[in-house]
Amino acid sequence: MNVEIKGFGLAQADKCVTNQDLMKIVETSDEWIKERTGIEQRYFSTTENTSDLGVRASLLAIEDSGIDSKLIDLIIVATITPDAMMPSTASLIQAKLGLNNQKCLAFDVNAACSGFLIALQNAQAMIQSGFAHNALVVGAETLSKILNFEDRTTCILFGDGAGAVLLSQSARNKTIGHYSRSEGDLEGVLTTDSLMLNPDFKSNLSQSNYLHMKGQAVFRFAVKAMEDAITEICRNEKISLDEIDWIVPHQANKRIIQHVATKLNIDINKFYINLNDYGNTSSASIPIALADMKNKELLRKNQRIIMVGFGAGLTWASTYFVV
Ligand code: UT7
Repeated sequence: MNVEIKGFGLAQADKCVTNQDLMKIVETSDEWIKERTGIEQRYFSTTENTSDLGVRASLLAIEDSGIDSKLIDLIIVATITPDAMMPSTASLIQAKLGLNNQKCLAFDVNAACSGFLIALQNAQAMIQSGFAHNALVVGAETLSKILNFEDRTTCILFGDGAGAVLLSQSARNKTIGHYSRSEGDLEGVLTTDSLMLNPDFKSNLSQSNYLHMKGQAVFRFAVKAMEDAITEICRNEKISLDEIDWIVPHQANKRIIQHVATKLNIDINKFYINLNDYGNTSSASIPIALADMKNKELLRKNQRIIMVGFGAGLTWASTYFVV
């Protein structure tokens, strides 16, 4: 059974925060951030939690697909900043979309910045197995909740937002394929604080959950992982890089993308980049980029696209699809 991405949507968080705004909080400069990352601004959410951003992106993806929302029978949300440990953000989105009274399964996936592609891979498998017919696949984050605004090496990188796609059965020929890998990391390259055991059985209200990162180690991993994911998806799908119209990468750092372009000898203009506007929104970055492209009328029927991501875990993944 073939599947196809039929709708795209994105939700911006409410507060646009420029590099100049961050200069009032940490010792940094607009020049440093732009030169080292390419980021000019990001959006932080002051009112909506992850599920609210996910709902807004989902509604747009559903509308774009033209599919009756009552036919959605699977919701997978990729996030590392859920509204709560439980219930899943997908369950909250199901309820907020009014999809409770039907045969529908909702659950979250945590594969950090690769999460959206791995959620998509799961949704495809569940549709192809006959379990589901129409899947909402969402990447949604409120990373501002876990940023340490005293750590200039991380707080300038990230943003909040959500992107969603509607994946459905299709009458067209095979239009989608995936590659994904992980390598467990005990070195703390990209982590949040651990949830501590509580041997005294006392309430621990002071536990923090900040993000920590060894930037240069992540940089080196990212270049290698993206190179591998792009090369392997081309091999799996028996397609050459020349035949690809767009590469939609995880939006972490423009210099990472430039390195990959140089190593694989790909024209940098084939990479869709919007991290200058959004910063790094982790699992939301790829679906936001896709919806952004759709809104700018850059996605055309039959174009061949590779999406590629990497993140904590460590994880990395790529998806090939035909628009
Ligand atoms: O979704 C995955 C998420 N993570 C990533 O993709 C991160 C990958 N890594 C990176 O993007 C880069 O490593 C960073 C952007 C995080 C850092 O860039 P870098 O070129 O690797 O900088 P660095 O860590 O080598 O630091 C260079 C200098 C240091 O000062 P000294 O020791 O040379 O005096 C830092 O203290 O830049 C300093 N620095 C800053 N200066 C101004 C670090 N952060 C800042 C800052 N503003 N925000």
